[in-house]
Amino acid sequence: MLPEHVAIIMDGNGRWAQRRELPRTSGHEQGAEAVRRTVRHARRLGIRYLTLFAFSTLNWARPQEEVHELMLLLESFLRDEREELLENGIRLMAIGERELLPPQVRRVLEETEAVTAHCEDMVLVLAVSYDGRRDLVRAVRQITALASRGELLPADVSEELIARSLSTAHIPDVDLLVRTSGEIRLSGFLPFEACYAELYFTDTHWPDFGEAQLDEALATYARRQRRFGLIDAQIAGMV
Ligand code: IPE
Ligand code: IPE
Ligand code: MG
Repeated sequence: MLPEHVAIIMDGNGRWAQRRELPRTSGHEQGAEAVRRTVRHARRLGIRYLTLFAFSTLNWARPQEEVHELMLLLESFLRDEREELLENGIRLMAIGERELLPPQVRRVLEETEAVTAHCEDMVLVLAVSYDGRRDLVRAVRQITALASRGELLPADVSEELIARSLSTAHIPDVDLLVRTSGEIRLSGFLPFEACYAELYFTDTHWPDFGEAQLDEALATYARRQRRFGLIDAQIAGMV
């Protein structure tokens, strides 16, 4: 009953800090600690794919200082975690418009992807400068480019082709999608990939997220019945 792919919208760093009358950046710093705890725990539990929404395309419009701080945090997270990722067989992959990242952040990201490329125990997907609609647009452009060269017919366009053209090409569909901090929305996260996901919302702010909160989300998932359009009797017959 363990989901193969868990995706998390890590929300609420700002509100966590605000409550403590701290600057938003200290919420992001504590958020990075929550990432460490969550990745470790997911790995221990045997989750195969963990996708974390770290920074959206729309987040570029935040005050420059905050954007800068988030980029620094991303860079230091990648530098600090590299060894641990390797030791634990965790492959890092990034989705999103990496060309928009500051060059040194992109470099560290791609180095981390390269050095962990052989790791097979878990895949950690970081969504940075990500927006699901933009990713779909990119995929459609790629597909229409093939078509305009005569390499593809309209009938060749399938769900599989679209899935393979997204930045999540080699990553299975999301089974469980978690959002912290009480907002009940998806904010552009994995629209195609999480189409059939179970959704789980918690009021916990991201910096307070950890082992117990992940366990709770997984326990809730385990109690859900995924029907995929079928009726109870059919599901019973399948098991
Ligand atoms: C999530 O926390 C982190 C990012 C979006 C980068 P927020 O910064 O959105 O925190 P709130 O929603 O303002 O509390
Ligand atoms: C979504 O959170 C993006 C991330 C968690 C990185 P936001 O806080 O930016 O989303 P909205 O503004 O609530 O939609
Ligand atoms: Mg937010």
